[in-house]
Amino acid sequence: MKWLVILGLMGFSECIVKKPLRRVKTMRKILSGKNMMNNFLKERAYRVSQISFRGSNLTIHPLRNIRDLFYLGNITIGTPPQEFQVVFDTGSSDLWVPSIFCNSSAWSTHVRFRHLQSSTFWPTNKTFSITYGSGRIKGVVVHDTVRIGDLVSTDQPFGLCMAESGFKGIAFDGILGLSYPNRSFSGAIPIVDKLKNEGAISEPVFAFYLTKDNWEGCLVMFGGVDHCCYEGELNWVPLIQAGNWIVHMDCISMKREVIACSDGCEAFVDTGTSHIVGPRRLVNNIQKLIGHYVSCSVVNTLPSIIFTINGINYPDSRGRCYTTFQEHRMSSSTETWVLGDNFLGVYFSVFDRGNDRIGVVRAV
Ligand SMILES: *[C@@H]1O[C@H](CO)[C@@H](O)[C@H](O)[C@H]1NC(C)=O
Ligand SMILES: *[C@@H]1O[C@H](CO)[C@@H](O)[C@H](O)[C@H]1NC(C)=O
Ligand SMILES: *[C@@H]1O[C@H](CO)[C@@H](O)[C@H](O)[C@H]1NC(C)=O
Ligand SMILES: *[C@@H]1O[C@H](CO)[C@@H](O)[C@H](O)[C@H]1NC(C)=O
Ligand SMILES: *[C@@H]1O[C@H](CO)[C@@H](O)[C@H](O)[C@H]1NC(C)=O
Repeated sequence: MKWLVILGLMGFSECIVKKPLRRVKTMRKILSGKNMMNNFLKERAYRVSQISFRGSNLTIHPLRNIRDLFYLGNITIGTPPQEFQVVFDTGSSDLWVPSIFCNSSAWSTHVRFRHLQSSTFWPTNKTFSITYGSGRIKGVVVHDTVRIGDLVSTDQPFGLCMAESGFKGIAFDGILGLSYPNRSFSGAIPIVDKLKNEGAISEPVFAFYLTKDNWEGCLVMFGGVDHCCYEGELNWVPLIQAGNWIVHMDCISMKREVIACSDGCEAFVDTGTSHIVGPRRLVNNIQKLIGHYVSCSVVNTLPSIIFTINGINYPDSRGRCYTTFQEHRMSSSTETWVLGDNFLGVYFSVFDRGNDRIGVVRAV
C-alpha cells in the first residue's frame, strides 16, 4: 500500500467482461489420469517437506474483487463484533480502521469503529500517523479483539484513525498490513506476528489467490497453503532483505526484447497496489508500445509483457481493456517496480515470513 493507487471511479466498467462465477476445479478434474495423480501425490509430499503445512490450522478467508482494483476481506473488531472491509496489504504493516469520532467525509459512507460499544476495547496514549502514496492518516493506538474468520487475536493493538487526507472516495474501510513488524508506523505488533506467537497459526505463512473479472472466488489464507488454487510447483524467490516483500527481478521484456529493468531491478510484491507501477520514463515507453487504452477486442492479441524473476518468466495477465501500468514519482538509485494486483491476478502468491521468501506459481 506504500504506493497505494486509488482510481476509484474510472469509467471502464463497460469493459469488465461478465463471466460466470469461476469455480475452482477439483484436483481430480485437473489431474485426470492415474500417473498424473501419482506424480501429484509425490510432488505434494515433496512440497509438504519444503514448507511444513502440518496440521489443519489453515484459515481460508474469502476476498471480494472490487473492479480488479482492490481485494477486500471482512474482519471484525470488538465485543460484540463490528465488521469492517479491509485491504489485506503486503505493502504495509499496520492495521487500522476509522473511528466513529473521525468526522472526515471520506468515511461518511463507511463503517467506523464505535469503541464505546465494545467491552474488550482499551486505549493507549500513543498516537501514530502513516503517509501513503496518495494520502495520510493519523490517530491513536488502541487494543481490542480482532477476528479474521476463525482466527482470533485478543488484545490486538491497532490504529484507530481520527483524521485523514487524500482518502476521498475510497472503496474500503481500513487496511490490514501484512509486512514485517519493523515497517510498522504505529509500533503495534502486526496481527500475523501475534497469531504466530500465540500458536493460532502454525506457520508464519499467508497466500493470495486473486482472480480477475470475477468479483467472487478470491481468497487469502493464513497458516499455510491450500493446493486448491494452483498447478505445478511454487517457484520460491528469496527476499532481497528480510523486512520487506521485495525481490530481485531480472528483466521486463516483450517479444524477446528487454523493455525495462535491463540491469536487473527491485520488484515490490504488493497486494495493496492495484497496478504495475514503475519509473515514469520506462512506463511511458511501455505505454507507447502497447497503447494507453486498448480496445477490448484486441487485448488478447497483444504480445505479452514478460516479467523474469529468478530465471522464470511470468507473463502479465490479460482480460483487461486498459493499461495496467502506472508511473511512480519516487526517485531512488535502484530501479523499482511494484507488482500489484494486476500482476498477482493470474498468479498464486505465497508470503513466507519464516523463510523470508515469496512463492509464485500460475493460478488455476
Ligand atoms: C492448531 O491450533 C491450536 C490452537 O488454536 C493449537 O492448540 C494446535 O497446536 C495447532 N495445531 C498445530 C498443528 O499447530
Ligand atoms: C463482507 O460483509 C458484507 C456485509 O456483511 C458482505 O456483503 C460481503 O459479501 C462480505 N465480503 C466477503 C468477501 O465475504
Ligand atoms: C469534526 O468536525 C468539526 C466541525 O464539524 C471539527 O471542528 C473537528 O475538528 C472535526 N474533528 C475531526 C477529528 O476531524
Ligand atoms: C498515559 O501516559 C501517562 C504518562 O505520560 C501514563 O502515566 C499513563 O499511564 C498513560 N496511560 C495509558 C492508558 O497508557
Ligand atoms: C527488519 O526485520 C528483519 C527480521 O524480521 C531483519 O532481518 C531486518 O534487518 C530488519 N530491518 C531493519 C531495517 O531493521
